[in-house]
Parts: sequence; structure tokens; C-alpha cells
Amino acid sequence: AGAERGTTHRATADTWNMPGMVPERTPGSSRPGAGRLHSGTMTIELAPLPAPVETARPRPRIFSGIQPSGAPHIGNDLGAIRNYVRLQAEYEAIYCIVDYHALTSVHDPDRLRRQTREMASALLALGLDPERCTLFVQSHRPEVTELAWLLATVTPVSWLERTPTYKEKKLNQPEDINHGLLAYPVLQAADIVLYKASVVPVGKDQAAHLELSREIVRAFNVRYGETFPEPKAVFTSAPVVLGTDGVKKMSKSVGNTIEILASPDEIRRQVMSMVTDTQRILRTDPGRPEVCNVCQLHRFFGTDYEQIWEGERTARTGCVDTKRLLAERIIEHYAPARERYRELIAQPGQVDRVLAQGAERIRPIAEATMTEVREKMGLR
Ligand code: AMP
Ligand code: TRP
Repeated sequence: AGAERGTTHRATADTWNMPGMVPERTPGSSRPGAGRLHSGTMTIELAPLPAPVETARPRPRIFSGIQPSGAPHIGNDLGAIRNYVRLQAEYEAIYCIVDYHALTSVHDPDRLRRQTREMASALLALGLDPERCTLFVQSHRPEVTELAWLLATVTPVSWLERTPTYKEKKLNQPEDINHGLLAYPVLQAADIVLYKASVVPVGKDQAAHLELSREIVRAFNVRYGETFPEPKAVFTSAPVVLGTDGVKKMSKSVGNTIEILASPDEIRRQVMSMVTDTQRILRTDPGRPEVCNVCQLHRFFGTDYEQIWEGERTARTGCVDTKRLLAERIIEHYAPARERYRELIAQPGQVDRVLAQGAERIRPIAEATMTEVREKMGLR
């Protein structure tokens, strides 16, 4: 994949340039004729900026969820959060911290509460604006659990058993294969369709869940009549960010993350531990930026990555130089967010208010959907 599309920069075919994606926008260029996001392109960052508003046409609704799994990492930001931030201008955006989902693996109540507030603070620090989007905690709108049950009755067990994340979780937590793990994608579908959202910004690891959401929607609409739009996943230009090991997807559970809101020293430590081009053994060996994860990350933290890549190719620079530069750029890039995060963590009341208002604002949408669905299914 990728080669026949003429893409030149790629680590592995499936990593940085996904089939269906369009090349990175170069600074200053614009794509006036480009189709809107829901017309088929999968890379939201490249969707054109909104046209001036002439009429009060309702904006299409988007929804995404994120687990309160502790400190956000570069994979979360490059793969999903920066699309959340960008899309709040163009869409009616609803973002949810999915504490019900987290209960499938987190069983310590204090930890769950703390991490939920931390994730909310992190999202606000990274640029979610409660004036322009809705941010709320999943369990504050409990209608979703009723809808998940209703959707479960149109979902064959075999669809859930073959979900890759379920198989993975069974291996990761063999002592705790709870029913919630199996039902996880049904609850995710309920999250999205409770608000009849049609667009879902996520990282590539969520593609199978979104496909399942679409199948569940189809099954529901066939049995009870057209009710929900089929939700569509949209990706950034970094749909799979590799971890510091350079092999696996960056993930908290693997322990290969670069935590964007950590202290500068911690970020330096994490970046300096990155595995680079394993075939570049001597400092004088030419590097291969296409397969070097450090070089790939440089694409997102500066406009001069091509010069950096050239330095690697000609062995003018060494891997250590390139890592040091990356660490400093990441630290600088996230410095304002880090500062804002510290402020928000010190004012939990303010964050709690934003979350409470978020859940309240979307109550009418949730109630209207539930009234319609109960009626269609013969419950009331
Ligand atoms: P999670 O922490 O699993 O709830 O993930 C939150 C969002 O970040 C989801 O949309 C994921 O798809 C995305 N994400 C997580 N890890 C990565 C990664 N390594 N690369 C790209 N996107 C990611
Ligand atoms: N399963 C997603 C993850 O692990 C989180 C999630 C829950 C979600 N509900 C959602 C994502 C609805 C998109 C839409 O990252």
C-alpha cells in the first residue's frame, strides 16, 4: 500500500500513509476544491476550512470517546486529539471521557475518578474549548447504558467474539475476561448513535470498532426502520503512531509512550530511549529516515523535517542529535498545554463545572433518541 499512490515518505506501508489518505498539506497551500470530510476522504486535517457562514445550516455532528487511562501520549494527540481540536470549529462536536468503558479494566474507584478528571483537564489544556464543543463524562449521561442493551439485542455474539481488541484483551488480562470486554463495542456504538453522530475522529486502532458500529446500525435500521446514520471513522495523517520501541503501536499498556504533559526531563528520557534505524550501526553509516521513527515524528514538530532527513541520509547528523532536537521540540510544542494543565489540575471545581454543563447540554438529544428508540422497539 502506498507505493502505487506515489507517496514518498513512509516508515512501513501501514504506518504513516494509510490507503485512502491524501498527502500532507504543505504549509501555505490550500485545497479550495477539496471535498468535505464526510464525502469520502479519511484525513480530516486536510478538509478545507469552513466557508463563511451564510445561513444557519446545522453543522454535522461528530462524536469521539477517549478512555481515562492516565497521561495522554503523542499517539493520542497525533492520532486523535488534534483532530478533536481542529474539528470543533467546523462540526457540532461532542467528546466523551468513557469511564464505563474503563471499568472493563480499571477496578479502583479512586483511580478511576482521578484519571477521569485528569483526562478532562488534559483535553481542555490541549485546546478543547467548552464554548465550541461539548465535553462530558460518559456515566453522567446514563441513557447510553439502556441504549447499549437495546443494541445488544440486534448484535450477533459472533461479531463481538471476532473483534480484534477483544482477542487482544483476552490475552492481556486473562484473569479478568469480564462480559464488559465482549460488550465493549456495543457500548461504543451506543455512545455514537445516542447523539446520531455521523463522523468519528479516532486513531486507526479503532477502525474495527467503527466498522462494527456501522454493522450494528445497519442491523437496527433493518429491523426497526431507518433510525441512525452509519458513523464513519476519520483519521489524521498519523493514524498509527509507533512507540519508543519503534515496532509496536504507542500505547500505555505496552509502556512505550512519550507523555506529552510530563515534565521536560521525563520527555527527554522517553525520547532519548527511542529505537532508531536499527541498520544504522556506526555514526558514519547513512540513516534511513523512512524507517526511523524519530525522523517520522519530526514531520509533526517543525517545517524543516526534510533538512533533518537529509542530515540523517548523509550521516551529517547522528541519531542522538536528531533525538535531542526532537525532545526539545516536543517540550516546546506542548509547553503552553503543560502550563494550562497544571492550572486546571489545581482548579478541579472549574473542570467539574465544564463536565456537568456538557452532560446537561446534550440531555435533550439523548432523551429524544431514547423516546424514539423505545417507541420503535415496542417498549412504550
Ligand atoms: P485510548 O487511550 O485508547 O482511548 O485512545 C484515544 C484515542 O487515541 C483513540 O482515538 C485512539 O485510536 C487514539 N490512539 C491511541 N494510541 C494511538 C497511536 N499509537 N497512534 C494513533 N492513534 C492512537
Ligand atoms: N474505544 C475507544 C478507545 O479505546 C474509546 C471510545 C469509546 C470511543 N466510545 C467511543 C471512540 C465512541 C469513538 C467513539 O479509544
